[in-house]
Formats: sequence, C-alpha cells, structure tokens
Amino acid sequence: MSADRTEGERLVELAKRRGYFFGASGAYGGASGFYTFGPQGAALKSNVEDAWRERFTVQEGNFEIEAPTIMPEPVFEASGHLDGFDDMLVECPECGTSHRADHLIEDNTDIEDAESLPISEVEDLIADHDLQCPNCGGRLSGEPVEDFNLMFETNIGPGSSTPGYLRPETAQGIFVEFPRIKEYARNSLPFGATQIGRAYRNEISPRKSIVRTREFTQAELEQFVDPERDEPDLADVADVEVTLYPASEQADEDGSYVETTVGEAVEDGIVGDAWIGYFLGIAQEWYQRVGVDMDRFRFRQHLAGERAHYAADCWDAESEVDGDWIEIAGFAYRGDYDLSKHGEHSDDDFTIFRQFDEPKTVEKSVVDPDMSVLGPEFGGDAADVQSALEELADRDPSAFEGETVRVTAGGDTYEVDVDVANFRVEEQTVSGEHITPHVIEPSFGVDRTVYTILAHAYHEDEVDGETRSYLSLSPTVAPTDVGVFPLVSNVEELTARAGDLVDDLRESGFSVVYDDSGSIGRRYRRQDEVGTPFCVTVDRDGLEGDGPDSVTVRERDTARQVRIPVESLVTELRAVTSGDRSFDALVETYDLVAPGTDA
Ligand code: GAP
Repeated sequence: MSADRTEGERLVELAKRRGYFFGASGAYGGASGFYTFGPQGAALKSNVEDAWRERFTVQEGNFEIEAPTIMPEPVFEASGHLDGFDDMLVECPECGTSHRADHLIEDNTDIEDAESLPISEVEDLIADHDLQCPNCGGRLSGEPVEDFNLMFETNIGPGSSTPGYLRPETAQGIFVEFPRIKEYARNSLPFGATQIGRAYRNEISPRKSIVRTREFTQAELEQFVDPERDEPDLADVADVEVTLYPASEQADEDGSYVETTVGEAVEDGIVGDAWIGYFLGIAQEWYQRVGVDMDRFRFRQHLAGERAHYAADCWDAESEVDGDWIEIAGFAYRGDYDLSKHGEHSDDDFTIFRQFDEPKTVEKSVVDPDMSVLGPEFGGDAADVQSALEELADRDPSAFEGETVRVTAGGDTYEVDVDVANFRVEEQTVSGEHITPHVIEPSFGVDRTVYTILAHAYHEDEVDGETRSYLSLSPTVAPTDVGVFPLVSNVEELTARAGDLVDDLRESGFSVVYDDSGSIGRRYRRQDEVGTPFCVTVDRDGLEGDGPDSVTVRERDTARQVRIPVESLVTELRAVTSGDRSFDALVETYDLVAPGTDA
C-alpha cells in the first residue's frame, strides 16, 4: 500500500512509470516547468481535447481556428499583457532562488487569495510572518517584491527590430482575427470561435508537475454576443446541479457552498450573467463525462482583486487534489475590452453592424468644406484637413460653435472658418449602427484537466488476494479501449486468433493493445494500472466448445468477466465503450466467468 505518499506524489510516480508524463529534456538535466506526455498521456490528452472539441465546438455550432503561437509586440500592447500580465516575484538574498511572493504567503499563512493584495501589503506580510526561502531557509523579510511579466519574449526574424512574444493565452489569436472570423459568421451575432493549442508563461515557480508549467495547452471558446439582444439557451442547462462558491460566501467567515441549479443560480443573481451560467452548466456535464469526480469539484467566483485586467466577472472551475483546490478552467465576462483595444490599436474593424428593427431618423452633424478656399490656403494638406473636419463634426459637433474651428492633421494644427467648413446638422435615416460585441470566455486548461482525471481515477483494491491499483478512466478518454490477450503465449491457435481480433477491433476504430507476456493476471494488472476499460482474452474453452467461438471480456473496475461470442464482440464493445450499454447488461445477457479461472 502507498498510504505514506500524497495523492500527487503517487500520481507523478505512476505517470512516469506507465508513460503518462515526465519532466522533459531529462538527458540534459531537464528544464523546470516543461513536461513530455508519454504514449499513454499523449493519447489521454488528445482524447480530452477531442471530447472538448466535440462539446464546445461541434455541438455548439462554433468555428475552430488555429492561429500562430508567436505574435508581434503590438498585439500584446493592445491586449494589456505587456503592462499587466505580471506575478509578484521575491528573490532569496542567500541562494538567489525566485519565488512567487503570493504563493509563499498562501502556503505559510491562512490567507487564501494573496494574489489580489497590493505589493506593499505582500511585503509587509512577508516581514510580519518572517517568511523564509523554501529552498535554503534564508530570510525574505525586507526583500523587495517586484512585478514580473510572464511572457516569453523573442525576435521575429534576424536582429531585434521586430520583437514578438509566445502567446500567454490562445485567446489573442482569436481576437486579432475577429475582423475575418466575423465574415465567416456572416457578420451576425451571436457566434463562438474556439481554439485548442499551446500557451506559454514564464512562471516564477512552476509546481505540482503538470499543474503549473511554462508551456501548456488551453482549450478556449470566445463567445461573441450583442449584450443587449443575445441570450443563451439557458433552458438546455437550467436543471444542471452545481456547487457554487460565490465571492460573498468566501468573504464571510461562516461562508459555505451554494448547492443549486444553473437556472436558479442565474435567476437568483448568484451568477450575474446568463451566458456564464450557460457555460457553467455545459462544463459541469462535460467534466462529469470525462471522469472528474464531481464530489471533488466546484465553481468558485473570483474576488474583485483576483480578476484579470480584462474581466468584469469570473468563475473558476476547481478540482480538489491532495486537499488543495486547483483552478482547471476560468469563465470570464470580458465585455468589449479585447475587441475595443484591438480596434483602437489597429486599422481593422472590430465592430459588427447591428440592424435596427425599424429604420430610424437621426440628427447627424456634417461638414461640406469649400475646397476652393481650403485648396489655396493649405495646399497639399487640404484633403487631410477636410477629413479631419468630417471626423470632428461626427465626434464633437460643439467644436463648431464659434467662428473658427481647429483641427489636427498629419501632426499640424489648422484653423478653419466655420463658414468655410459648411457645418450643419442634417436629419438622416439610418438602418443600424456599429457595435463592439461583448465576449464571454470559457477557458480550459487541458493539462490540469488531465491531472485531475488521473488523480480522481486512481483507486486501490484487492483482487485475487492481491492489492491492485487501477485507473477508473472513462472510456471517453482512456488511452486504450481494449487489451487483447491469448491466455497463453505458446499456443499458435490462441495467438493467431488474438492477432486476428486485434486487426478486427482496430479496423472498427478501437484503440487496442496486444499483450502476451507474463501471466494473464499480470497482464490484467498492467492494463488496470493504465486504465484500459476492457480486456478480451482468447482461451481454449472459447474455441473448442460446441457453440460459436467465444472470448472472455473483463471489466476493469469490478474485474468481472463474461463470455461473449466472437461475432458479437465488436457490437458489444462499441455499446459499452460508448455508454449505450452497461456491463451489468452484458452480465445479464451472457455467462459470467468465475473469478480466477483464467489467471
Ligand atoms: N484566456 C484566459 C486565460 O488564459 P487563465 O485563467 O489565465 O485565463 C486559463 O488560464 C486556464 O489555463 C486555467 O484555468 C488553467 O487551467 C490553465 N493554466 C493557466 N496557467 C497555467 C500554467 N502555468 N500551467 C498549466 N495550466 C495553466
């Protein structure tokens, strides 16, 4: 038994031994915060991504894109990441190790949200609690705490004239392409765009294996809506039960979870936005489907100081591992922040035309400058002055109230007689207006989802008098669907038949592993430990009886086995792996094999 190890330690050991994940570049001493997913892990992660794509892209009718992972500096000037994407850094004066100051406080005091505190308060707390370097024990009191920008910088092309950054979130790749994506949506709201891909953050102190890394995978959905008109289909998820931990309950010493439904949470204003409520409902069902233990899962609202620079409200999906809560996804109301910023910083159009129900008559300030005067007066700049006058009339009609009006064009200021500008207010009929859509963003961390699934799937029990450990992975995400074994490896008839079954199952779309080494009991344990839901064994009884050829099918979690005719194998396995049929139903239909008869 492994009672002395924490859940996380046990998981990391199993992950390495069984090929789920391990520290990258080990041959060269490794690089902290980078992980390689081994054969099992890569398959599990890819299945999680496929399940996410199926639910959040395909079923929602959204568009998926794939943008570059390196983007030029102006993107991040506009998005606010250059200025605001910082964590608090404190360096040990003795050994030089860098630490996240807020994490040190959270790990050593009762304070849970040190990230939301101002730097000065964090410095005071380090001093008050006389915090020490976790690496060497050096005193951190009195050391400066600084903002550290998490983006990895690079140069695009030779030289340093075009700085670029590895994207810290996949989202920006969607926002900067909004002017083109909206065309595919026929310029009509609401619509969603998704992206699954790598994001990079130069984390001050990566930790908990794949929970906080410097390169990780996000699955993000940007839902673009007209905030005055668009509503989600809340009825689809209104009855979904959720465990909520609102900011008000976190602030209250006796605060507790609110167990409710999505519909009630939105109706009662606990979740302030219906779109966020909608995505919490979908996410709750999705996490359950991919195997997260919903007794160790909650949605927690961000406290005001904790929210990212772009978010008006945010809820996190959190899973519990080792008694700690891990943020595995965020659901943020980003408003028009991102599209407005990219609109301001670029020449592209980040708006959508909103058609009025009825055309409207509006008063519009216009100018019709007399070019026979502007031309001789301003020469080659006359056209620019004309444009500046038109823009000013639209933006600030009061500027035309005096006898002259001043405009700036090409960095110079020009004074024009209002009579020459020909300013007037006209009535115009307009059919609509340009609006900047609002964005609701469900943002999932794929690596943390994989970590949670593995941690929650790990079980130990006793089978045939021996302790076994197994991963009760959902067939939706398990790296391998079926293990196929000949009962013994030295009988040609059995190995040939097992080999044929492997081919048939693979042709039918199953992910199959063939194993003929060691005792059948050992082979079952190996598959149990990597979470293969079903194992098929070819034995003599199945080939030599009077009836049709048969094999045994073993269910991982209960170790029960039934004898199934080979001709029904693909159909039955398809039914149980897709969840259309339970193993109990197979037990009712077919003969149960007594435990231990083939071990
Ligand atoms: N676009 C919004 C955004 O990036 P975030 O809360 O910073 O929001 C979203 O990140 C998700 O990405 C998190 O909930 C988490 O699951 C995952 N994530 C963030 N930083 C991570 C890291 N250093 N290592 C692994 N996953 C991370």
